[in-house]
Amino acid sequence: YLFLYYQKQREKYRNIPPGPKPWPIFGNVGGFLVPSFVRRRFGEAPKNPNMSVMDALTLQAKVYGNVYSLFVGNQLLVVLNGYEVVKDALSNHADVFSDRPDIPVISIMTKRKGIVFAPYGPVWKQQRRFCHATLRSFGLGKLSLEPCIHQGLATIKAELLRLSGERGQGGVDLTPLISNAVSNVICSMVLGQRFHHEDREFRTLLDLMVHGLEICVNSAAVLINVFPWLYYLPFGVFKELRRVERDITVFLKRIIANHRETLNPDNLRDLTDMYFMKILAQQAAEEPEGGFTEDYLFYIIGDLFIAGTDTTTNSVLWVLLYMVLHPDVQDKVQAEIDQVVGRHQVPSMTDKGHLPFTEATIMEVQRLTVVVPMAIPHMVSDTREFRGYTIPKGTVVIPNLWSVHRDPTVWEDPDTFNPARFLDDKGKLLRKDCFMPFGIGHRVCMGEQLAKMELFLTVTSLLQAFKFRLPEGKPPPPMQGRFGLTLAPHPYTVCLSPRSGPSQTHLM
Ligand code: HEM
Repeated sequence: YLFLYYQKQREKYRNIPPGPKPWPIFGNVGGFLVPSFVRRRFGEAPKNPNMSVMDALTLQAKVYGNVYSLFVGNQLLVVLNGYEVVKDALSNHADVFSDRPDIPVISIMTKRKGIVFAPYGPVWKQQRRFCHATLRSFGLGKLSLEPCIHQGLATIKAELLRLSGERGQGGVDLTPLISNAVSNVICSMVLGQRFHHEDREFRTLLDLMVHGLEICVNSAAVLINVFPWLYYLPFGVFKELRRVERDITVFLKRIIANHRETLNPDNLRDLTDMYFMKILAQQAAEEPEGGFTEDYLFYIIGDLFIAGTDTTTNSVLWVLLYMVLHPDVQDKVQAEIDQVVGRHQVPSMTDKGHLPFTEATIMEVQRLTVVVPMAIPHMVSDTREFRGYTIPKGTVVIPNLWSVHRDPTVWEDPDTFNPARFLDDKGKLLRKDCFMPFGIGHRVCMGEQLAKMELFLTVTSLLQAFKFRLPEGKPPPPMQGRFGLTLAPHPYTVCLSPRSGPSQTHLM
């Protein structure tokens, strides 16, 4: 039987992309668990402990080519590198490269419902289409998001003024304020309510969501992927994970029940209300098999929080970090904002097209920092010949967006921070297909428009109001970032001074 199994595997993996030799049972990634002296004994080169995961994966492409294989245990993973390859897979072969793998630790928590980890198919498509259209509709009418974003920014600015006076030369950590404002945008949109940044219940919910996913990715809970029964163990991270899941469930189910009870079809408040209308329409049409259910709504709300909070918060934090490290660029952005918007009114989305340097700066920071550097794992839903290799059905695919943004065939001096690369010689903004911080293809980020809006309004409003710098004598944080759920900058603090001109009322 073993022999037959071995033959079958050999046949299946006959023409897969090349890659480093896997360890039995552990595969390549599991090989990190093998002590280094054993690895050296078998001729493996010592690794640079300071190298980021993204650099390590990108470097492998220099040895094996832009399409290479890795094994996690006996699961085949194909890593796609560089612009041409990633575009080819996710655009030209989107029909098979758009599924998501069944990762036990995630599937136990999400039941493979919602959008982010849902399998590619009609239900995912239906739910995504509804959410996407609803998010777009928030750009308009009474649910318009712009005032909602500005409301959060007014709080940030007032708090920054207060804290900078209080903390003096020690500087202020921007993270909690920005994360609160960003998650409040999702809250307003999805749940129709905002929370104060000191609201304990809300803070706990946010921490739980991030904490829950950190546990899934960065703790012994990853072993659940190999032995799913570990999830039920009554101790350690396993128990912790179940507690987090239970607390999130209680919080969200209460809000959903409240929406059900207070639903008024003549006054739809948010995405949850709109979803309930879909459920009712489906019931009226007597479609018991339709995909809109209260259960599904629960997972969609969770997805929007998780996908929309950390990503946008870290993007803003990266932009402001680059601004303190490049004061000349900060000056130039501020001069452009002063010229186009002035100092007496808040920036609006209608200003965006007139602020090319500011936009180019935000894009350049996004290019260099790639907050979702490996996208979200994809899976091929059918065996496919791809660039001379056979990618068997069920292979996990990692689109290395980090490598796309540092691909020397499409970016000149890719490691240099240079906003001007996004401008033509007349100073107009250039659109570049090889810029893909939101991914591409069928699984492209669903919140791209919203994220761009938040990023633009937050960055311009804060730079209009304050000059940012590092505290005197404090070294900058290491720039390779911390890779957890997303790529976050290392913690840093800033000193800020209100820019002369507008009165505080104008700032707020
Ligand atoms: C997926 C980036 C903000 C919702 C993704 C993906 C990336 C990404 C790279 C994976 C694409 C793939 O798998 O190929 C970002 C960045 C953001 C951001 C850089 C902020 C700067 C948001 C926001 C929301 C959101 C604000 C929603 C409110 C989603 C969803 C998916 C996703 C639902 C899964 C799409 C699917 O599987 O069909 N995002 N995102 N994202 N993002 Fe975002």
